[in-house]
Amino acid sequence: MTQDELKQLVAAEAAAYVHANVPEGAVIGVGTGTTANCFVDAIASAKSRYRGAVSSSLATTARLEAHGFQVLELNEIESLPVYVDGADEIDAHGAMIKGGGGALTREKIVASVADVFVCIADGSKRVDVLGNFALPIEVVPMARTAIGRRVIALGGVPVLRVNTDGSPFITDNGNEIIDVKALKITYPIALEATVNGWAGVVTVGLFAARGANVCLLGTAGGVERIDYIAR
Ligand code: 5RP
Repeated sequence: MTQDELKQLVAAEAAAYVHANVPEGAVIGVGTGTTANCFVDAIASAKSRYRGAVSSSLATTARLEAHGFQVLELNEIESLPVYVDGADEIDAHGAMIKGGGGALTREKIVASVADVFVCIADGSKRVDVLGNFALPIEVVPMARTAIGRRVIALGGVPVLRVNTDGSPFITDNGNEIIDVKALKITYPIALEATVNGWAGVVTVGLFAARGANVCLLGTAGGVERIDYIAR
């Protein structure tokens, strides 16, 4: 199977998971990226079963609305039984690197409210140690250089994310992203706390303190379901 076919496979499995575990009339949280897009497409035919969705990016909002979903503000809702999203890397404990698509801040906010985080990913995303994929950090632009120095002190290589025309990539929140290369993340919870403490950091794309509860992983043998022990 191709990577795209694996994404569609896990997205369909996630739609079935949500149908089986989320009550009718509930609001669902939806992530960002190509795998999350497949999930939106997979769940679209059942949209009348749900009150609506909370989105983690402008791009996902547009896709949900194109399918006729009602998109609700997080401030409007009291609970979110499930959040479904992809990942750039996921380790054996359900800790993830996220933010390859630049939506890490809203993803982390929506995930923080959800009872259950369902990670959907093709098998290439499973790793023993996080860090081969560059770790995104969303920063307030005036803090970019100061945070870059802190990254270097940690042994990482900071690279400002840019668009194809060379201009800085700007997030939905009006900030910039530093992608950190060459970090071997052996203690993700500790690193997440450290980077979160730096002035000017909006969000680090380490989802470790609140990692995934369940992963639906697309492999050559089909969808592997992994349940992580609650932290
Ligand atoms: C976006 C994300 C995505 O979940 C992550 O980049 C995975 O994307 P894809 O499903 O396209 O591989 O964190 O900010």
